[in-house]
Amino acid sequence: MIIVAGPSRASRGFAESLAGSLGARLVEAQHKVFPDGERYVRLDESLEGERVVVVQTLSPPQDSSLVEAMLLADAALGAGASSVELVAPYLAYARQDRRFLPGEPVSVSVVLKALAAAGYSRLYTVEVHKQESLRAFPGEAASLSPYEYMASKIGLSGDVLVLAPDIGALDRARRLAGAIGADYDYLVKRRDRVTGEIVVEPKEIPAKGRDVVIVDDIISTGGTVAKAASMLLEQGARSIRVMVAHALMVGGAVEKLRKAGVERVYAANTLPPVGDPMVEYVDVAPVVAEAVGG
Ligand code: R5P
Repeated sequence: MIIVAGPSRASRGFAESLAGSLGARLVEAQHKVFPDGERYVRLDESLEGERVVVVQTLSPPQDSSLVEAMLLADAALGAGASSVELVAPYLAYARQDRRFLPGEPVSVSVVLKALAAAGYSRLYTVEVHKQESLRAFPGEAASLSPYEYMASKIGLSGDVLVLAPDIGALDRARRLAGAIGADYDYLVKRRDRVTGEIVVEPKEIPAKGRDVVIVDDIISTGGTVAKAASMLLEQGARSIRVMVAHALMVGGAVEKLRKAGVERVYAANTLPPVGDPMVEYVDVAPVVAEAVGG
């Protein structure tokens, strides 16, 4: 098996760790951007008869990352690979998983079909927004849960309250709470599909005097977690920490969370680090290695 590291820093770091866990050879893709913005990749060695696993996270700029992932599949097959699989630690476009408004695309299906059309026969990702979305991928696809492993790495124990900031994250909270033997609860959030505005329904949470860990798949603008954190602190929570798979952290998210009273964010290393001490990263490549190697 050969692990090919895609161009971005986050992809390279993840690929190195994955190759280390699997004891596999690592090949770094050469890459450049043409003056007009088009992407170029090259695999400068024969991959004759090899099972090739490309690591390319679909981090911002998502469209370029996606194109590079597709180009890498074709490059690997052209260099003789017997099969090519993709590890995309962050699967972009996963949240547009249905037609919320008439006339919208199911973006995640389009992305998955495009990756298969480029040549990928298997796909591994970390905590996809909705598991069912992966059915659109014509080959085998797996979404790997990072929370249990992250909890063991940071030494999280059961004397916390695990909270899902919306019903979509309830299964995530249940998994994390189950792994550490903690209580869990959830909030109900509604998002305006046109303006993006978030409303969290008022709810009594048994948070008084407790350390709370909010668990979600993604922090993007930080709005969801900030609203949940403020509500919990108003209800007497002692401290708020957050565990997420994907810390996109756009539009001043770190500051928003700090202002809302969040002490720390634990994030998997699926995206480039934000470079703020508030966000602590856990390398989850060993979780993916188990699936790739097994
Ligand atoms: C939505 O359902 C997701 O699970 C996340 O809660 C959401 O994408 C987070 O976005 P933001 O940080 O912008 O509120």
